[in-house]
Amino acid sequence: MNPPARTPASATPMVWMTPALCKTIESAGTTAHRLASGPGGWVERLGDDVIISYKQDAARDEMAAGLDAWCQKAAWQPVRVFHRHMPVKNADRISPVLHSGDATLPLTTVVTEAGIRYGLDIGASYSHGLFLDQRVNRATLRELKPKRMLNTFAYTCSFSVVGALAGAETVSVDLSRKSLDRGRHNFTLNELDPAKHRFLAEDTNELLPTLAARGERFDAIILDPPTFSRSKTGRRWQVEDHFEDLLNAALEVAAPKCAILLSTNCTKLDPTTLERHARWCAKVKRRSAEYIRPAMPPDFPAGHGASTLWMMVR
Ligand SMILES: C[S@@+](CC[C@H](N)C(=O)[O-])C[C@H]1O[C@@H](n2cnc3c(N)ncnc32)[C@H](O)[C@@H]1O
Repeated sequence: MNPPARTPASATPMVWMTPALCKTIESAGTTAHRLASGPGGWVERLGDDVIISYKQDAARDEMAAGLDAWCQKAAWQPVRVFHRHMPVKNADRISPVLHSGDATLPLTTVVTEAGIRYGLDIGASYSHGLFLDQRVNRATLRELKPKRMLNTFAYTCSFSVVGALAGAETVSVDLSRKSLDRGRHNFTLNELDPAKHRFLAEDTNELLPTLAARGERFDAIILDPPTFSRSKTGRRWQVEDHFEDLLNAALEVAAPKCAILLSTNCTKLDPTTLERHARWCAKVKRRSAEYIRPAMPPDFPAGHGASTLWMMVR
């Protein structure tokens, strides 16, 4: 996911969550959530730490002042505050930078969401390892209790952990071996044996036809591709151009009553457009389905977070 894409340019004010909402979220076993969101960036609480993600220095300074005021109101202090610049070009992205707090503490940390443990690495890269806007979708997956789950573009395998805890055999696919290793670590953090699950360092677009040919079928599939990707052979893949190809290939491995999560940060694919594409693919593949537009978590104001849709195949 490429976070900056979904924040509208219009000057909507910064929205801070109330300390009461923070307590409610925390009492549900969640220590990773947004504290504030606005046109110039957002503030995330990650356990004991905070990251301010900003586009311009003025927005960073405004959020830093807002954080001080919020902490006073909430009677809470982060151990460390990091600043993360969101550049216009993805190539200019760097890891968050420590702004205040003990520089000798490790940059790896563990947060919880609904009691599930996830390892974060604030120093590893631009993204720390958990996309907080998917909290409601992870909760939905848990309720669905899949038996065989395919998590494509799996990143650190948060959805796979949830599926496995709900009793599923899981297959996690990502081009990045490092991300899959972090996924295995997330399994271990939750006392799940990674050896009982599959982690495939493959190109999703190439793997799906192979899985279909082998007769593999799944009752939950996560499709959360990046906006742009390049295959191992250098082939360019752009979500708005290739989304239907991806979903058509996924439908070939969808068992009856399969729940497919469609998710994207591409601003050209809002939930209405996603549903239009999904309805077309269902028609092409002669599958009938129901479509559910999930609510965003309460700490995400409108216009923030990925566009997502559940396609419930009959
Ligand atoms: C948007 S993130 C996925 C986030 C994940 N669904 C989550 O909630 O944590 C995109 C991931 O897709 C992976 N990726 C990019 N192109 C890929 C491809 N063609 N096949 C498999 N994985 C790919 C990247 O390495 C990255 O980990």
